[in-house]
Amino acid sequence: MEKIKWGILGAGHIAGKFANAMASVEGAELYAVASRTLPKAQSFKDEFNAQKAYGSYAELVQDKLVDAIYIATPHSEHRDNAILCINAGKNILCEKPLVINTKQAEEIISLAKEKGVFLMEAMWTKFLPAVKKAMSWIKEGKIGEVRMINAQACFKRDFDPQNRLFNPALAGGALLDLGVYPITLASMVCGTNPSEFKGFAHIGTSGVDEQGTALLKYGTGEIASLSFALNTPATQDAYIYGSEGYIYLPHFWSTENAELWIDGTLIEKFHQDFAVNGYEYEIVEVDDCLNKGKKESDIATLADTLAVTKIMDKLRADFGEKYPFE
Ligand SMILES: NC(=O)c1ccc[n+]([C@@H]2O[C@H](COP(=O)([O-])OP(=O)(O)OC[C@H]3O[C@@H](n4cnc5c(N)ncnc54)[C@H](OP(=O)(O)O)[C@@H]3O)[C@@H](O)[C@H]2O)c1
Repeated sequence: MEKIKWGILGAGHIAGKFANAMASVEGAELYAVASRTLPKAQSFKDEFNAQKAYGSYAELVQDKLVDAIYIATPHSEHRDNAILCINAGKNILCEKPLVINTKQAEEIISLAKEKGVFLMEAMWTKFLPAVKKAMSWIKEGKIGEVRMINAQACFKRDFDPQNRLFNPALAGGALLDLGVYPITLASMVCGTNPSEFKGFAHIGTSGVDEQGTALLKYGTGEIASLSFALNTPATQDAYIYGSEGYIYLPHFWSTENAELWIDGTLIEKFHQDFAVNGYEYEIVEVDDCLNKGKKESDIATLADTLAVTKIMDKLRADFGEKYPFE
């Protein structure tokens, strides 16, 4: 089978990690990279052994040999970048969050369907072996009925109003950058949408949520308590509590480990080293879908992404947070 020829759109921090991961995926080839400036694209191409470097995103999507494009730009750009790719007939893996609000999500999902291209949010956590193991423990009833989820996605970055994390013009804020992980985890575990939820946040001087929390109640009684922060060096851990025991996922969104605890005893400990850095599993998923002619993943579905986007819209309304371009 021919390798999937990938193009990377935006040569920033995560693009480099993704390129490193791709080198380990047998069915994938880093073919091209596009940056807003040609010298940056050329230096990325040389560093990661791509074949082509483009000085604009428009040139990348016109390359007939590109099978799939990985969008690795700030949140504010995802919609326009995705539309550019879709209109050129390119399959897309787009960094999280897919876009910034429900209106944009519905727009690009519907356009992708109309043009018959593959679209997936790069929710890499869903494909990690340790997270899959935790989901299989839940399905097998190892922890009984799921009752509560506590998850935190927090780190501390120095305040810089120009940085995409703190800049409202780039759709910064802890919710969209970090909160998307615990909300996705809670949705995965509960397998449904919350019946009620409420969020609280501290809006910093640049106008974005620097730290926040969300409480969600699901139809069958599960409660999720989720926190996210750009300004606090708190944990990145998740606990999934059931009627018979619990699962612990340290650094859950990027974890190689999962623990199953029953009656205060560690029953099973799962560990699998990443082949590279964890991004390889989402690349394998996209390759697999494309080889099968699928237009979306069965694991990171567009319906799940849309549901999480709707939750984040309402949470931002609770926070009183709106981006300048909304
Ligand atoms: N999955 C993960 O673990 C993970 C981790 C970090 C980030 N992310 C996601 O990846 C995306 C990019 O994050 P990042 O940390 O890689 O950001 P970054 O280092 O700032 O890189 C973003 C790149 O986007 C391009 N870009 C296009 N329009 C831009 C604009 N108006 N302002 C600034 N840059 C612009 C730039 O590339 P060119 O100059 O080359 O065009 C820039 O280097 C975000 O969606 C983020 O949520 C995911």
